[in-house]
Amino acid sequence: MKKTLAFIAIAAMLNACSSSKTVKNEPAIYRPAYHYTPDKNWVNDPNGMVYLDGEYHLFYQYNPFGDKWGHMSWGHAVSKDLKTWKELPLAIPETMNADSSTTMAFSGSAVVDSLNTTGFFEKGVKNGIVAIYTSHIDKKGQGLAQHQSLAYSSDKGRTWKFYDKNPVLDIGLKDFRDPSVFWHEGKWRMIVVKPLEYTAQIYESTDLKNWKLLSEYGKIGDYAKIWECPSLFKVSIDNSDKFKWISMISSANEDTDYVGMQYFVGEFDGKTFTPDAQTGVLRIDYGKDFYAAVPFNNLPTNDKNPTIMAWVNNWAYAIDISSEGRRGMFSMPRKLSLVNENGKFHLVQKPVYSDKIHTEVLTLKASELTEAKTFEMKSNSFRLTLTIDLANSKGFSIDLLKNSDEKSVLKYDIASQKLSFDRTKSGKVDFNKTFPSIESMKVSPQNGIMKLDIFVDNSIVEIFANDGRAVLTDLVFPTISGGEISISALK
Ligand code: FRU
Repeated sequence: MKKTLAFIAIAAMLNACSSSKTVKNEPAIYRPAYHYTPDKNWVNDPNGMVYLDGEYHLFYQYNPFGDKWGHMSWGHAVSKDLKTWKELPLAIPETMNADSSTTMAFSGSAVVDSLNTTGFFEKGVKNGIVAIYTSHIDKKGQGLAQHQSLAYSSDKGRTWKFYDKNPVLDIGLKDFRDPSVFWHEGKWRMIVVKPLEYTAQIYESTDLKNWKLLSEYGKIGDYAKIWECPSLFKVSIDNSDKFKWISMISSANEDTDYVGMQYFVGEFDGKTFTPDAQTGVLRIDYGKDFYAAVPFNNLPTNDKNPTIMAWVNNWAYAIDISSEGRRGMFSMPRKLSLVNENGKFHLVQKPVYSDKIHTEVLTLKASELTEAKTFEMKSNSFRLTLTIDLANSKGFSIDLLKNSDEKSVLKYDIASQKLSFDRTKSGKVDFNKTFPSIESMKVSPQNGIMKLDIFVDNSIVEIFANDGRAVLTDLVFPTISGGEISISALK
């Protein structure tokens, strides 16, 4: 018999967003309600995220012509609170060259050039934005060259001009991309990767146009697959005024289901990033679908916590996921901090979420879950906040998005201290052989308690364990909206 739990609904239910612009006659049940996606077409990496005059700008890899990768350009959305987003017209387009090749605008970053170091802006303009992106030369589907280029905007990202002397940094490589630029001690710094060499380079400039190589780091941590989308930024330790530097790298390969974002903790002296000694690989997220995350630039100075967003997808099957006229979505923004645990630094991630998400808050004792507690959800878009006392139990299991044939299973096993997410029976899984998978992460209970903050949003599941000490993000495609949640003790 089903037992319906009394729970606290913190806020009104968000209606699952559905778009009228569907193609291929698929029901629009996978568009997230509180995660950002553009109305239509293909997206991948977040680009040029920057805060300016009360607005957060999210640019992103976008194909204006369809729901598959191609014609890469920068799409654009803005938000006042990082919770709800408004899509704006295309920002930086792909351009045609005289020899019939095209220049695509690959990933990169954006800065506010408040001192007009570039000379791009009228006298006195303090809020010009400059985008530094990879100009990728494509001829009939063949990548010929990659270099770094500039575009600029005097009207808060609404319209853009290309710098007429592009590119500004060309080292003659076919693979050389994803510049992340920031202001540091009176000069611009850029971190950019040579993907096939698993190497990040750091450059400096006074005007964003002339760049001088300062240092390189690479072939450390995980370099099983190419390196992409590097970043370098400061994060406060234990929310104090003390900082360490973090460098994040994304690694992927289209031929396998391998995907991963790693980070290094270290010091940056203005020239060289020196990672601390570390054991193993430090992961940003333990799921299969958190990629190309980079931080916002120019956040208000009193904000010690850099904020990142990622593309929720995986190159192994990105092109095969269900299309509703759009493919690809973005994670919730996450604020970062570092905790110092016996001299070892560990990244903590806190989601930025809307208080309009339908939320269930439960405090449970695992030992009392011998009979499953089951309750029905009205939609597949909700938040489940759990505090579970693990005393006298082996752990617990939570079936999410459950219907007669499908379930996404989150399990915590005390003996191994592993929290795992199993999407092998989560709904549509056979569109790519690498999709059905079980991911896990090690999470230690804190004083015998496991805290979970689970964000389910139609096709995205983001799980924050122990106040953001370990995070797992996965896509799921249940075929029915409004399944059950069922929580039981491990036997
Ligand atoms: C990462 C990436 C970047 C590149 C962009 C192209 O997902 O491969 O390295 O700039 O996507 O869309």
